[in-house]
Amino acid sequence: MPRPNPVLKVNNMDVIHTIAILNKRLREAGKVAFVPTMGNLHAGHLELMRIAREHGDTVVASIFVNPLQFGPKEDFQKYPRTLEEDCALLRTAGCDVVFAPSVEEMYPAPQQVEIIPPPIANELCGAFRPGHFQGVATVVAKLFNIVQPAAAVFGKKDYQQLCVIRALAQQLNYPVRIVAAETSRAEDGLALSSRNTYLSAQKRQEAPRLYQALKTIAHQLQQGQRDYAALEESACRALAAQGWRVDYVAIRDPHTLLPPAGKSERFVVLGAAWLGVTRLIDNSEVSAST
Ligand code: PAF
Repeated sequence: MPRPNPVLKVNNMDVIHTIAILNKRLREAGKVAFVPTMGNLHAGHLELMRIAREHGDTVVASIFVNPLQFGPKEDFQKYPRTLEEDCALLRTAGCDVVFAPSVEEMYPAPQQVEIIPPPIANELCGAFRPGHFQGVATVVAKLFNIVQPAAAVFGKKDYQQLCVIRALAQQLNYPVRIVAAETSRAEDGLALSSRNTYLSAQKRQEAPRLYQALKTIAHQLQQGQRDYAALEESACRALAAQGWRVDYVAIRDPHTLLPPAGKSERFVVLGAAWLGVTRLIDNSEVSAST
């Protein structure tokens, strides 16, 4: 296969495929604000780019479908690769540099040094996707070393990922500010996600129900209900009755992601469930004191 052009300049946005050329490009870049992605971009990613602009002189987006974070039976092969369309979108979103490495560029040899994320990474999504957060933490650590951002923006839709990355940055002393962005949603409440493209028209209509179920729990918590197990159980049953296969619905502490302890006033309600062949995740933060 012909190697891609090392630096493709598109309307003042550089599309770079190698670490060496990226390093050169970023030498005089000032403060870098970074948005790591796996591509197949949507309006939610563009919002992350807008936030990134507020945090640096140069905005870098990476597009890399990271094999390390997919399980053997997951959708690594079928994950949509849409570099051209992504670059067209990024150009309109004020991105300065796109870093789109090949798998060989990121992993020239089998990756034997990996980041062990904190134990919370083995719960919730981690319990259903063993090794997923280890793969995420490892690629994000590599990307931080390559891009050396002053700030990096992550969406709250992937709430557990955000917690893992915060811990990674803190405990490995990365000099990077982790900026959390609110989840972007369609009008009917469905969280924007690259995987929504897997949904048939019929499933797309059903899809907002996951967020509705989490919001129902959020409301019940605000009303003072504290039987967490009963609230979770009732949401699982409501989803299952509509044909969902639920991995989990869980009420957790928003900072530690552990089950709430004592007289909690702040929560995050997280859920992951399958609609046909598509696994959706979502969450809702709750402040019961407001
Ligand atoms: O959230 C994602 O798109 C990915 O998990 C990330 C952070 C780009 C790492 O591959």
